[in-house]
Amino acid sequence: MRTSQESTPRESTPDVRVDARDKVTGAVRYGADRTPDGMAFAMLAGATIDRGRVVEADTAAARAVPGVLLVQTPFDHAELASPGFIMAGGYGFQSLQPLIDERVAYRGQPVALVVADTLVAAVEAAHLVDVRYQAEPFAVELDAEGAETIPQPEAIPLPFLADAAVGDADAAFAGSPVQVDQTYELPRQHQAPMELIGGVAEWRGDTLVVHEGTQNAAAIRHGLAKQLGIDPARVEVRAPYTGGGFGQKNSLQPHIGLVALASRRLGRPVKLVLGRPQTFHMASFRPASRHRIRLGADASGRLTAAIHEADQQTSRHDLFPAMYTETTARLYGVPSFRGRQRLVRTDTQTPGYMRAPFEHPGVFAFESAVDELAYAGGTDPVALRLANDTGTDPLTGQRFSSRHLAECLRRGADRFGWAARSPEPGSMRAGDGSLMGWGVAAGAYPADATPAEAHLSAGADGRVTVEVDGHEMGQGIRSAIARLVAGDLGIAANAVTVAIGDTRLAPQHLTAGSWGTASALPAVHAGLRELRKHLDVADEGPVDVAAAVGATGRAAVDVRVSNLPTGQSPELLDRSRAGLVAVAGPDYPGFVTFSFIAHFVEVRIEPTTRRVRVPRVVSVADCGRVASPVTAASQVRGGVVWGIGGALREGSEVDPRFGGFVNATLEEYPIPVNADVGRIEVDFVDEPDPLMNPVGVKGLGEVAMVGVAPAIGNAIFHATGRRQRRLPIRIEDVL
Ligand code: MOS
Repeated sequence: MRTSQESTPRESTPDVRVDARDKVTGAVRYGADRTPDGMAFAMLAGATIDRGRVVEADTAAARAVPGVLLVQTPFDHAELASPGFIMAGGYGFQSLQPLIDERVAYRGQPVALVVADTLVAAVEAAHLVDVRYQAEPFAVELDAEGAETIPQPEAIPLPFLADAAVGDADAAFAGSPVQVDQTYELPRQHQAPMELIGGVAEWRGDTLVVHEGTQNAAAIRHGLAKQLGIDPARVEVRAPYTGGGFGQKNSLQPHIGLVALASRRLGRPVKLVLGRPQTFHMASFRPASRHRIRLGADASGRLTAAIHEADQQTSRHDLFPAMYTETTARLYGVPSFRGRQRLVRTDTQTPGYMRAPFEHPGVFAFESAVDELAYAGGTDPVALRLANDTGTDPLTGQRFSSRHLAECLRRGADRFGWAARSPEPGSMRAGDGSLMGWGVAAGAYPADATPAEAHLSAGADGRVTVEVDGHEMGQGIRSAIARLVAGDLGIAANAVTVAIGDTRLAPQHLTAGSWGTASALPAVHAGLRELRKHLDVADEGPVDVAAAVGATGRAAVDVRVSNLPTGQSPELLDRSRAGLVAVAGPDYPGFVTFSFIAHFVEVRIEPTTRRVRVPRVVSVADCGRVASPVTAASQVRGGVVWGIGGALREGSEVDPRFGGFVNATLEEYPIPVNADVGRIEVDFVDEPDPLMNPVGVKGLGEVAMVGVAPAIGNAIFHATGRRQRRLPIRIEDVL
């Protein structure tokens, strides 16, 4: 992959990924890399019906496998309370805890746990558990008989999930001279992180220690305490590195309690790693969704009305809240907007958050419709977007604390060479005769933040150690923290040690929603101010740390601070310390904050095979101040690659006769490989947000993906004249 980037770090601090060497040399230890003495291996067996009950489980053959230590079925009624659903005041990706009763709620739900001396024995024995079921009718698709559709405000009566409404959008739409009314469909998808879900549980005396790749060590800690009925002080979770999370590792997985119980019973550490097909069936996924978008505009292309109605799949046992319109209502300065979101109960595990969980699907629909509107009104798609930019949030009437979408669009158009585009569909050809299309789309993502606690220690050796809330899952949070400290004190980045992802250090509340950096950095910034006071040095400028510590006569100077997002009450900190979701934004007192991006895409379509290629993408992001240019550019490239996957490759297929997921392997769930990815140019506006926090950072990881898929769909329309309203776009869609 050839890439380029341009950005201008404000300081001379080296721009590096501080843990890159450890990662590529294998020095980094992930949860399942731990091999404590005496460790045993666990494996799960999954249900082979979609819904019903287990009526019999014959474990004789499994128990006869040499080395098998334990075989557990639903009839053993594991002594675990429900962890509760993370979005309903709990800790689990779903409320349903397998193996505590005989009920089967989805295909693949664990129906047996085997623990053995070796992994081979555990896997073999898990296959040999002979389970009989009583099957019941089920529904796994949005329109299936038995799927239950409920308006979200009725299902979950919380203010932030209410239907959005500004003005009379229906009347304004009806009176608009230019109209678009289309429906867009998005598939289920699964995260495919390199690190499989899994880890090791061990008891040290009466303390449970869990090593597990996660984005939310606090939820594991407090969730396990709840499940096992023990004091959270007796649960330690260690996750210094997570090998990709993308939302799938944002909460307590249902296997951990079972492994903890088995470990206690056997008096040995126990490891469990889900196989790749199991991660498709036993962990959360991006739900299917359908979006009807109505846009009205006047003859000049100014939006008069937008209506966004979304249906989203949830499980039978939990209500996974839909938040599509939170973002689509904010893309443009539309005077009247109406949003309506409904949940569709189906017989699956509870779906969850997958990178840009609502923003990728919702903005695919909305930004495809905006392109349709541009063509319907004969306006250039970039000009139409610029004409509808706004500094005021249409939903609340508050100002955006920063919004540089127009700059992203202008700079992107310039770098891409948009002016040379001939607007007529099918009018551009590449030198090799392939159809060429150029498309554009914008993206936005709420700029959220959480409370964080930071502990800074400056040593007489000149080194500084930072312990703070946050999980490193590949996004580069360690680099952003190290760079902030190094830049602030004028010391080398390698003189800074960053410790995160460990409940012994800080609460380690959920790192997701692209709020990790915007939560940890302000806490570290506050810690630096405090540290400078204790070192008796100026509030700014380079510090001779060794000398300043030496002058205090102590070996080290320690400070501890906790930080709240702008305008929040300390109650949020209590929630964070209790491992509950504790998030603020994008509405803050007096302002609203989003990150923005513009993507420009070239597609080429081979005329006979109709194979779609994406040789060139230009993406310009507004994420506030760029805290760590190298890792930020990587985040954007990763988001663009995922957008290519979302547009052209990824979809988890279901067979409505059987439930479950048919293509539950990396062979059959295609994600983009290097051959699918061309040149990605990344640029940043790099303007600090003046109000979001003193560091000026907003989020980046997820906004990077938002808008890539519609830019590709719009480019395919430009190349072929065929409008794409369903993802992934397949060859037959462009014939
Ligand atoms: Mo993310 S999908 O908020 O981890």
